Amino acid sequence: MALLEVTEVSKEFGGLTANQDISFNLDQGEVLGLIGPNGAGKTTLFNCIAGHFPVTRGRIVFDGRDITPLKAFDVARLGLARTFQIFQASGDLRVAENVMVGAFLRTGSRRQARAKAEAWLDFLEIAETGSYMLSELPVARQKRVALATALATEPKLLLLDEVAAGLNRAEIEGMVTLLQRIHTEKGIALLLTEHVLEMVMALSHRVIVLESGRKIAEGEPQAVVKDPEVIRAYLGDHFVKRAGEAGHA
Ligand SMILES: Nc1ncnc2c1ncn2[C@@H]1O[C@H](COP(=O)(O)OP(=O)(O)OP(=O)(O)O)[C@@H](O)[C@H]1O
Ligand SMILES: [Mg+2]
Repeated sequence: MALLEVTEVSKEFGGLTANQDISFNLDQGEVLGLIGPNGAGKTTLFNCIAGHFPVTRGRIVFDGRDITPLKAFDVARLGLARTFQIFQASGDLRVAENVMVGAFLRTGSRRQARAKAEAWLDFLEIAETGSYMLSELPVARQKRVALATALATEPKLLLLDEVAAGLNRAEIEGMVTLLQRIHTEKGIALLLTEHVLEMVMALSHRVIVLESGRKIAEGEPQAVVKDPEVIRAYLGDHFVKRAGEAGHA
């Protein structure tokens, strides 16, 4: 059974269609990449799935339950967590307290929440940052704190919105390793959007591609990046011709 079933989801903002009739499934334990140029509708789709926006049309089923009408908090309780493309560090909280906010979804005990926060910070190899203010940390570490906070909600599925944006090459490699460990050691399914395509390629079992709100391709990562439609969406018609010529040479 699919863990997530998205069926003909559309999201309109006034006259703008940010998502149009998008359908896809994500299996238990799968890592699914979601790519597409700026403004393609990736974050909007995340917001619809995670209950931050109501959909205009369509249906979203998670773990056998229709979550289409549910708000973010209730979606999170069912085991679907997400990170935000623009991470808003809660200025007044220390790192460990930030992560505890996630843990409080499952426990009312400060002691348990703190223990869980420390365990996730340790897993993400930033145990020593717990007592810092979030704003004091470099971006790569702030991203790990965001990840820890989402993980502390005990998700079955984690939506990652550009978790590598702003990171350098070594930091990206570190993040890929961590996400692989989250997937294999913790058994959490991942849906990730990323402009860093190497990262999507390294992690994803399958990739779906959005352009101007529509799904234009779906398949194995290696096949998808060779799809002329996808090359055109990213680079324009000019490159499709060039890629075609190179193929015949
Ligand atoms: N809250 C909103 N209100 C109105 N329009 C919105 C809102 N959120 C997104 N949009 C519009 O929806 C379209 C898709 O935006 P979205 O942020 O989902 O794209 P994206 O694929 O995540 O882009 P990026 O790669 O730059 O993050 C854009 O035209 C954007 O301006
Ligand atoms: Mg986005």
